[in-house]
Order: sequence, then structure tokens, then C-alpha cells
Amino acid sequence: MEETYKKMIEIALSNLNKSYAPYSQFNVSAVVLMGSGKMYTGVNVENLSYSVTICAERNALFHAIAEGESEVKAVAIVGGIKGVIDDYCYPCGSCRQALSEFCDPKDCVVICAKTPDDYRKFTLEELLPSQPDMEIKK
Ligand code: THU
Repeated sequence: MEETYKKMIEIALSNLNKSYAPYSQFNVSAVVLMGSGKMYTGVNVENLSYSVTICAERNALFHAIAEGESEVKAVAIVGGIKGVIDDYCYPCGSCRQALSEFCDPKDCVVICAKTPDDYRKFTLEELLPSQPDMEIKK
């Protein structure tokens, strides 16, 4: 799997320049790996009306769902001010919640990366603990 994670990070890094973040100047790029084995990309897209902004992670996830995917296996995230990555970029609370809708949080891997060789790896459950068992989803 580590080679797959590296590939996801490489793709995220190569897309970072597509991020549209004129207001915060904080560029983010994400890649999700879905149940089919395919990867989908997303970047953050901001708006003059700030709350309309979409994060890179949700953009990638919704891109995949719109293509007919249903399970997220892993997500890789890179980001930094003016596209300069000097720290790990963690998913916001809303993105953690959105990801949890389409995975088993025990199995879903979240990769917060600086480079393909420098990343931190979590399960979604570690980042979003104590979730209710949603019978309604089954
Ligand atoms: N952002 C993301 O796209 N993902 C994250 O994990 C953190 C925050 C975006 C939202 C906004 O465009 C900018 O980064 C600053 O918060």
C-alpha cells in the first residue's frame, strides 16, 4: 500500500496549482482512493461569499461519488500558504464527517503529507472517534 500512498501524494502535489484560494492563500489538494481502485482528485475552491468554499478533500470525495464510486479507502492531502508546503495538512472536521459517510472509519486511511516520502498516516477513526453506530445506513 505504501507505493499507492506515494502515488496519491505525487498526484496531489502535481494538482496543487489548480487550487483556487485567492482569499486565504492557503492552497490544498487531495486525492481519494476508492473501492474500485481508482483515484480521484480535488482542490479547494474558494468564493467571495466565504462559506461557499469547498475543501479539497470533499471536492475529491464528491468527484468520486459523482462518478459512481461508493467507498473511500484512503485520502491523501497536501497544502500550504501560497502552495508552499512546510507542514502536514489535516482534514477539517466537516471533511472528516463527510468521509465517514462513505467508509468504515476503522479501515479508511488518511495521509497528511509534505512529500511522497514524508507523511503521517491515520485511520479516519483516529481523527473522528466515538461516532454513533448508524443503523439507518444499513
Ligand atoms: N482547506 C481545505 O481545503 N482542506 C483542509 O483540510 C483545510 C482547509 C481549505 C479551505 C479554505 O479554502 C482554505 O483551506 C483555508 O482554510
